[in-house]
Amino acid sequence: MKIAILLSRVRVEEKLLIEAFEKRRLDVDIIDDREVIFDLHQNGWKKYDVVLERCVNHSRALYALRILNDWGIPTVNTYPVALICGNKLETTSALIRDGVPSPRCKIAFTPESALAAIEEMGYPAVLKPAVGSWGRLLSKVNDRDAAETILEHKQTLGTYNHSIFYIQEYIDKPARDIRSFVVGDETIGAIYRYSEHWITNTARGARAENCPVTPIINELSLAAAKAVGGGVVAVDILETKDGQFLVNEVNYTMEFRNSIHTTGVNIPDRVVDYVVKVAQGEVKVI
Ligand SMILES: Nc1ncnc2c1ncn2[C@@H]1O[C@H](COP(=O)(O)OP(=O)(O)O)[C@@H](O)[C@H]1O
Ligand SMILES: [Mg+2]
Repeated sequence: MKIAILLSRVRVEEKLLIEAFEKRRLDVDIIDDREVIFDLHQNGWKKYDVVLERCVNHSRALYALRILNDWGIPTVNTYPVALICGNKLETTSALIRDGVPSPRCKIAFTPESALAAIEEMGYPAVLKPAVGSWGRLLSKVNDRDAAETILEHKQTLGTYNHSIFYIQEYIDKPARDIRSFVVGDETIGAIYRYSEHWITNTARGARAENCPVTPIINELSLAAAKAVGGGVVAVDILETKDGQFLVNEVNYTMEFRNSIHTTGVNIPDRVVDYVVKVAQGEVKVI
């Protein structure tokens, strides 16, 4: 069995994954996305039974997966999963299509229609770049003045992508959200992410605590993973004041460094189990 990891740099997660592969004496090639050249006419990756994608940059991940999948090489995750999870508009649309509960969402293409959508939604509303992560450039819009300013700034200072306006209902959650980890058809664990700030990414300093995988969290996580095409994903869940659970987004190159000790689950081992199953053809991804 021959495995490749495509990565940008060896972060904590990649180090743990590589160690988990080595522990099993699996043959793994580490391929740096800064050095890779794909000759589209010549599949130089035929020797791999599976490629584990761990790029930091969404576009690199997306295009590499597109090429590899077109060459018939199984990947974790696949191109369609990266396409959907890498874009909040795509994710939310897939979740709603499959009846997975998620916060109310409106999309608009001009600052004027976005303002009208925000006014319809009511304040506070949340504006997000469709493509983004680590809580960057999220805005909680508390009133019309703020809405007008942010929309103008986005249109004037941002690239065209910032003029695809993703507008979400603000969920008055407890001082935390939930991040669950799905590998294949199993929710292997979950954490609470606590913060004083409304943005509770651990990359922004939120504190992780174990969150028991209750039947509702399990069901919601699996449904969300299925809606985006499955594989190895991390699901962000928001709790409402009246006890509902809503899927906020799904992540496809998941980070888990803060969650191994917190959950007591050996996440890299579980990912490696899955990657091996894909390599052996036990799990079909493409
Ligand atoms: N609609 C919302 N209502 C309340 N909190 C939100 C909402 N959207 C995002 N958040 C908070 O901001 C964090 C980051 O938002 P998210 O949509 O996951 O973007 P990112 O891709 O940057 O992680 C979430 O984990 C949550 O704590
Ligand atoms: Mg998130």
